[in-house]
Amino acid sequence: MPEPDLLASRPRVLSGMRPTGKLHLGNYMGALANWVKLQDQYECYFFIADWHALTTDYADPSQIRQNVADVALDYLAAGLEPERSVLFVQSHVPQHAELHLLLSMVTSLGWLERVPSYKEQQENLLGKDLTTYGFLGYPLLQAADILIYQPKFVPVGQDQVAHIELTREVARRFNSIYKASILPEPEALLTPSPKVPGIDGRKMSKSYGNTIGLTDSARLVSEKLEKMSNGGQRGRVSDPGDPELCPVYDLHKLFSSEIILRQTGEGCKSAAISCTECRRLAAESISLHLQPIQTRRSEGEFAPTYVQDVLETGAKRAAARAEKTMLLVRDAMGVTKEIAFPSVTVFDRYSYDTAQPMRHSLKNHIGMWNAGFETRRSFLIDYWKSRMVPSDCQLRKQGDRLFVTHRNKRAFASTAREEDGGLFRYFIPNKSYEVLVLLAWEKGDEAELKAFIIPQKIFSYDFAMARKALDKDEKISVRLTKTSGNYFFLSIAGKTGTDITALQSNYEPLK
Ligand code: TRP
Repeated sequence: MPEPDLLASRPRVLSGMRPTGKLHLGNYMGALANWVKLQDQYECYFFIADWHALTTDYADPSQIRQNVADVALDYLAAGLEPERSVLFVQSHVPQHAELHLLLSMVTSLGWLERVPSYKEQQENLLGKDLTTYGFLGYPLLQAADILIYQPKFVPVGQDQVAHIELTREVARRFNSIYKASILPEPEALLTPSPKVPGIDGRKMSKSYGNTIGLTDSARLVSEKLEKMSNGGQRGRVSDPGDPELCPVYDLHKLFSSEIILRQTGEGCKSAAISCTECRRLAAESISLHLQPIQTRRSEGEFAPTYVQDVLETGAKRAAARAEKTMLLVRDAMGVTKEIAFPSVTVFDRYSYDTAQPMRHSLKNHIGMWNAGFETRRSFLIDYWKSRMVPSDCQLRKQGDRLFVTHRNKRAFASTAREEDGGLFRYFIPNKSYEVLVLLAWEKGDEAELKAFIIPQKIFSYDFAMARKALDKDEKISVRLTKTSGNYFFLSIAGKTGTDITALQSNYEPLK
């Protein structure tokens, strides 16, 4: 797997498809084949827009689950690689819905009513009642899908350009109202979309029933090709034709080798080749293309848990990235909850407290230094609780290291002794806490025990990120580093340090 830093330094792209079922050659050439190539140059996010499917199919959602699975298999079969791209299902990342809701506050109804697909689809999909709130909001949900990843480009076909325009408009309004540049305006990266004709000669499309599926067997492909339109030419085999008028020749252009392309092109003009033979050759070229895709697909089908894993990992990675944007969006809109903003300046809030903390030398207890880990830990916590915590903090014990304040905040106390280089290492269970208490037992003659009381505001951002990246039973690595000037820096899961010197013996968060 490439280094995340390497990927993160590339421009980001995001795109998605509605789960319409097994994909066909038109979907492949119009989108997937292009996405596969983008993986070389971009940090890629590709997803399956299952909520978007509900905007038109809410009355009969029976196919959605299967369609999601089929599209996921097709993504993998086409060559999207979970090691290189984040592959996920929209509804597995609920932040999309949250951003959709928040953006709805700043989106004019007029903007949505004027998106061309709104009226068009209502007229085309006559069997469905599309006078719904969800359907009107389709392009806004798409805007949320996109903006939440702050991508530079959105690879889409021409039919989606109006949606990207709306996305840019919404981003602009958001940034202007909240005087921020949180949601950069993405650009459409227009997929070079070659004309892929269906077997009736019209554009290949599921709604025309003229498709060649990515899973069609060689036999089925040749049966379909046998009936393919030749553009109404060559009534007799001896009549010459014009390949440029023939949809079969369009398929040759996409899938055949130079040699076959020349053979069929010239053979058509000189009537040296029959349409039957030309169609047979096209079918062969197509099946040759489909073979590796079908092999990869069947591997995925043999291992459904693999596909499940891919989507689960993808959703975790996507949510971690989406959450970064949401922290900024919530903050701008005044709806932050317990999740705090990164990089607060500790001194702003705590510098009024200039009293020197009382010193606690444990030189008479130095034997504990090398006592077993458990013994030392409970000694330090008991010492802290009985001798250092001020009496106006009423802490209830809830576990060996978990305490609850009288305001019902959960405080977790962790201990470490000093290692070379002024390093203190803590390992904290993957749960949520409102306060972290880091007890730091120093080396040296005084063997001082220091207590740092860290309110959620300081650690929650990095801590929440670390929690997401780890399994439930993995511990989060927290470090304190003491500098030669006696400053203490906090670092969570390897993130750069925050100066918490002023939090020593500052019991405010536990009151
Ligand atoms: N509307 C897109 C389509 O029909 C699917 C989609 C949903 C999408 N959300 C997106 C595409 C975000 C690109 C980016 O094809």
